[in-house]
Amino acid sequence: MITIRVQVPATSANCGPGFDCLGLALNLYNIFSFTPDPNATEYTYTFEGFGADILRAEDPKKNLIGFAMDQVFATAQEPIQYGHITSETLIPPSRGLGSSSTAIVGGLLLANALVKQPLTKEELLVIANRMEGHPDNVAPAIFGNLCCATGLKTKVLNTVISVPSELHFAVVVPEVMVSTEYARSVLPNHVPFKEAVQNVSHASLFVTSLITHQLSNLSVALDDNLHVPYRKTLIPHCDAAFEAAKAAGAYGATISGSGSTLIAYVDKAHVQDAADAMGAVFTANGIENKTYCLEADSTGASII
Ligand code: HSE
Repeated sequence: MITIRVQVPATSANCGPGFDCLGLALNLYNIFSFTPDPNATEYTYTFEGFGADILRAEDPKKNLIGFAMDQVFATAQEPIQYGHITSETLIPPSRGLGSSSTAIVGGLLLANALVKQPLTKEELLVIANRMEGHPDNVAPAIFGNLCCATGLKTKVLNTVISVPSELHFAVVVPEVMVSTEYARSVLPNHVPFKEAVQNVSHASLFVTSLITHQLSNLSVALDDNLHVPYRKTLIPHCDAAFEAAKAAGAYGATISGSGSTLIAYVDKAHVQDAADAMGAVFTANGIENKTYCLEADSTGASII
């Protein structure tokens, strides 16, 4: 019996001012495998790693991996192939690092490896965006690098640029749970015009500064008016952690996705210091946390 194995990168959505459109892939991975069984009439699962206990307790029929696989078989107009799925979760779940997107994209790739006429990455992105509701995690999970994605009715326009190799990422994952649904519910219906205009200029500066390797601009370009000011209230000591990262040499820091992970953009020489400094803020306030020193992933989801 064959087993297909894929790895899907963690992603950091929004990148400060690029709410619901910018996202970058990081070199931390969830791994999914699938062994088709011609006698099986449903998907069965083995879960390992972060959140395995919770996933084991959930209804397997609602699992995103199998649901994503079904979408590929349906789009390819081929019968569903059931079998056994293994999920190895190395990305902390529900913390703003795109863990649920990895399950969607992992399922898409597993099924796509089995259909006679595989879908293109662009077609997989349309399905993933439909499932996730916004493209800024699923696009970099599929394509790697930095993605700028806009979902339209029947397609997703997505551009991909390389992240400068000199740019590293200090990440702190505090033991603070913030569901994306709740983190979206605290956002305002309206923002002042001047703040919206500033976001356009910062998002544009962010992308062009990466293209031109002018990384010191990130100290301004990462500032956001659309979600960070509102979501900061859900993450204790968020501002202190941002300041600690900057004092340790980071260009700037922001909330990763909908939080509670914080991500500092920093050069290689300062990445460990920035991660330690952010972690120390939470530790000093009695909040457990994990820190990571990461780089961009340039490959996206792939069969391994
Ligand atoms: N853009 C989405 C949000 C990403 O910030 O709500 C969720 O991970």
